[in-house]
Amino acid sequence: MKNIIIFGAPGSGKGTYSDEIVEKYGMGHISTGDVLRAEIKNGTELGKTAKGYIDNGQLIPDELMIDILAKTYDSLPAGKGVIFDGFPRTIAQAEALKQMLAERKHDMGVMIELVVDEDTLMKRLLNRAIEQGRADDNEETIKKRFAVYHNQTEPLAAWFQKEGIRHTFTWEGSKEQMLANIFAFLDTLK
Ligand code: AP5
Ligand code: MG
Repeated sequence: MKNIIIFGAPGSGKGTYSDEIVEKYGMGHISTGDVLRAEIKNGTELGKTAKGYIDNGQLIPDELMIDILAKTYDSLPAGKGVIFDGFPRTIAQAEALKQMLAERKHDMGVMIELVVDEDTLMKRLLNRAIEQGRADDNEETIKKRFAVYHNQTEPLAAWFQKEGIRHTFTWEGSKEQMLANIFAFLDTLK
């Protein structure tokens, strides 16, 4: 399978659909949010730095993220394809990803954009707060994450459009339908 960049607002389902795609196509998965949360849990220096940003709903500085991404990518088995979940989130990260992959003679593959209305996103994340207790899933921080998404990340969709790899999937109320649409598209790539 080609590489896949899964793109969307907080709560749009990047992690959820990544798990389903990994199960069906057996590829690698890098969630930069999960990588950072593991660093926080292990009490590393990186984790201590990341915690301040995450708890405040802000992005970790690009240089730090790009370095982490490259190290994580190189630790995965080559040739099976990787899903990038939560990366890139800025134009600088996107340019760095493209270059990092080109240096390895790989390409970005396809970008899957998940579009979901904000009321649904908020409900999902407040529900996840009850189920999983993620530190940044409280109403105040979620609103900051939405603002960061709109200001810093959403403009990247146009960057992917220019690259010719943007594929948009819009939430219409059914997870099964969303998955069927994504799988139907991915099946055309094999
Ligand atoms: P990250 O962990 O990536 O968080 P996020 O982008 O806010 O996205 P979420 O993980 O909250 O949502 P998701 O789209 O994965 O949705 P999910 O599948 O869980 O990043 C966290 C922080 O780390 C950032 O704020 C930043 O500080 C830092 N960071 C990470 N990457 C960075 C980067 N590249 N640069 C700088 N900083 C970075 O779904 C949400 C919930 O909805 C789940 O509970 C799910 O079960 C539920 N759900 C209910 N119905 C559905 C449905 N129909 N489809 C999908 N999910 C559903
Ligand atoms: Mg996630």
